[in-house]
Amino acid sequence: MPLMNTKAMFDKAYNGGYAIGAFNVNNMEIVQGITEAAGELKAPVILQVSKGARAYANHTYLVKLVEAAVKENPDIPIALHLDHGDTFELCKDCIDGGFTSVMIDASSKPYEENVELTSKVVEYAHKYDVTVEAELGTLAGIEDEVQVEHGAEAYTKPEEVEDFVKKTGCDSLAIAIGTSHGAYKFTPEQCTRNAEGILVPPPLKFEVLEACMKNIPGFPIVLHGSSSVPQEFVKMVNQYGGKMPDAVGIPEEQLRKAATLAVCKINIDSDIRLAMTGNIRKYFAEHPDHFDPRQYLKPARQAVKDMVAHKIKNVLGCNGHAEETVKVWNEKYKK
Ligand code: G3H
Ligand code: 13P
Ligand code: ZN
Repeated sequence: MPLMNTKAMFDKAYNGGYAIGAFNVNNMEIVQGITEAAGELKAPVILQVSKGARAYANHTYLVKLVEAAVKENPDIPIALHLDHGDTFELCKDCIDGGFTSVMIDASSKPYEENVELTSKVVEYAHKYDVTVEAELGTLAGIEDEVQVEHGAEAYTKPEEVEDFVKKTGCDSLAIAIGTSHGAYKFTPEQCTRNAEGILVPPPLKFEVLEACMKNIPGFPIVLHGSSSVPQEFVKMVNQYGGKMPDAVGIPEEQLRKAATLAVCKINIDSDIRLAMTGNIRKYFAEHPDHFDPRQYLKPARQAVKDMVAHKIKNVLGCNGHAEETVKVWNEKYKK
């Protein structure tokens, strides 16, 4: 099974009440951990590469790592996606360089500029059968390498989505309904605290999601900033010398609900980082004499695999959907 774009994945996910996990990849252990979990659970998966990942690991290395994962997991549908592309040139580079899907994130620009840039990327991408994700609305956290302060985020305006999708021809749309990038998604002031003193974030704006769905029925919606920042890993990091006070994420049951609606792609990066870091810190604390990177990267890779398996089964619900996706791909979309 070669790499595929996201069309068949989203067709099945939309109607099947589940979402595809889009996990960020930066090195071999992350690629292996994610795809081993997806392979064992027979889940379609999106491996996404940010501008920062390309700068860190190099485009060719990342593409070759993903190609190796495809070879090792011939039965699962895999898409290679550019995360938060901010210019036409970057999207073009990834399309020319083997990606099957790209995001053009012009959400911080005025509406008409967003339409214009997204349309330009769509026109180029579709010539090569590459799918395009666009974004309307602004998440708190880091977007386009611009830090958006908490309180300055803007929910997607449901009245804009139909016009935007029609004008641009994009294949999926990321919307802002209260998710946020990173491990500190909300300030303590935005949250309440439970009996144990753990921060409880404000709920996602399902009314915004539902209003968007009404205006673009059948159209795949994407959620960024969807890590849940599990407290067991925050505790692990803090227990072994880290310092992550008040790290807080999106409760998993809210993401599960979104996956049963029109949300077909859910982006997760921070939870993978947290799982790796917690386990590496623990390993170092317990084995101060070890210095072979394979010794501590092995449990880190296992932690990625366990985290992704948990997300696939308990949050996304995409386990067991590989075969039907391949069937739709072969019958409807394969060129
Ligand atoms: O949304 C951003 C992703 O988590 C990627 O982060 O730009 O640090 O690679 P990065
Ligand atoms: P998290 O920081 O919540 O993992 O979000 C990742 C993301 O949206 C990548 O585009
Ligand atoms: Zn994102």
